[in-house]
Amino acid sequence: MTDPRVSRLSHRLPELVLKSAPADLEYYGRDWTRRWTPAPLAIALPSSSEDVQVIVRWAIEEGVSMVPSGGRTGLSGGAVAASGELVVSFERMNRVLGFDPVDRILVVQPGLILEALQAVARGHGLIYPVDFAARGSCSIGGNIATNAGGIRVIRYGNTREWIAGLKVVTGSGELLDLNRGLIKNSSGYDLRHLLIGAEGTLGMIVEASVRLTDPPPASNVMVFAVPAMDALMQVFAACRRTLSLSAFEFFTDRALAHVLAHGAQNPFDRVSPFYLVIEFDAANDAQQALALEVFEQCLENGWVDDGVISQSTAQAESLWRLRESITESLASLKPYKNDVSVRISAIPPFMQAMREILDIEYPHYDVVWFGHIGDGNLHINIIKDEATDADAFIADCERVTLLLAKTLATFDGSISAEHGIGLVKKKVLEGTRSASEIAMMRGIKRVLDPHGLMNPGKVFDVAEAGSRQKGTSRD
Ligand code: MLT
Ligand code: ZN
Repeated sequence: MTDPRVSRLSHRLPELVLKSAPADLEYYGRDWTRRWTPAPLAIALPSSSEDVQVIVRWAIEEGVSMVPSGGRTGLSGGAVAASGELVVSFERMNRVLGFDPVDRILVVQPGLILEALQAVARGHGLIYPVDFAARGSCSIGGNIATNAGGIRVIRYGNTREWIAGLKVVTGSGELLDLNRGLIKNSSGYDLRHLLIGAEGTLGMIVEASVRLTDPPPASNVMVFAVPAMDALMQVFAACRRTLSLSAFEFFTDRALAHVLAHGAQNPFDRVSPFYLVIEFDAANDAQQALALEVFEQCLENGWVDDGVISQSTAQAESLWRLRESITESLASLKPYKNDVSVRISAIPPFMQAMREILDIEYPHYDVVWFGHIGDGNLHINIIKDEATDADAFIADCERVTLLLAKTLATFDGSISAEHGIGLVKKKVLEGTRSASEIAMMRGIKRVLDPHGLMNPGKVFDVAEAGSRQKGTSRD
């Protein structure tokens, strides 16, 4: 039987697509974390911002929380609906609304899949440069909500840099039109940037104006096998000095083992502890020659054991697969994911400190390191052994994440570089953000979401605001 609240919503918006079959609740109620049992009230699939406003007004009257939902490729539980929420899926709001060639702005609905957006940009002779392996499933709305980064941040920055305007429905059902594509706008607080990375806790993005740019020059890819941790940053310095880099990614021998077991081709005869995937501009012979010079210099200095430079587009793709298929190759093992960042200069001592902790704490688990080392962003994935049960494993990981958060705090790092806090990292937010900052975030949420219905329980618990403000400040 349909829940009476859902019937009332359907009555108010007869054209609204609503789903509540058990398979739909399961499908739309979870993201890639696979940790929480989905239990949404129902799924609403609006087709316009007006629909979204009506949904929010209904939710206020009924006291129903809402979880905005894109491709649900998130890794922090930000799109999980496990407590009777209405999932607002933007699957049907996936159109391109317009393109202005002078402004080079593409206006899109939030449900547009990243890969489709990139293809539209190419159709206009331009690119949308934010890119990562989930491109075929994630939506631009979700990318904005987590300020997604990815593999080319070293050149292009995060999603934030590319959002020229946002239309947002707040928790009071108001439609805000933020920044309207302006390049210069010094007229007070830029609320657009508050919504970017807010993980749907302040409002729902119903339209985005996305900036496009010129395609890059032809590029090439090389993979280096690296014998030691310190050498990673020496190679980085050498490459950055000489080449024009568009990606500088790394992974360990453990990550390689997983992607090879998953069907990737190994370009090397022997195993090294670390690998780097380096993408650089190679529009002419001189730039190609420079890459070879850097490789030789690294070899002579003992910073690399071996290397391969792609000779064709197919080979470049195959080399990229070594890095890009890590997440997929680990997915069935349900890894516990850490997504941390420190300043690039702090990477060597931070990695050293973390490896010491992890060697002591996790001798029995498979620890897989990879990530965007050129941005100071490391992914540390922990994989359960057969002897440990799932709950004990999570408890163990959360205990060590506290140590990780403490270590990060000493390096002024962040517990989430690009995946978001969601449900997964909420308990350790205080290691990265001061009590004053969290109190201010709660205050901002109260203004934009006065009824506390926008993705509640994600990033921080609103309920703790009172006790925290009464003086648990760490400042
Ligand atoms: C990646 O860098 O591959 C993504 O952030 C996904 C992940 O960390 O698994
Ligand atoms: Zn990543």
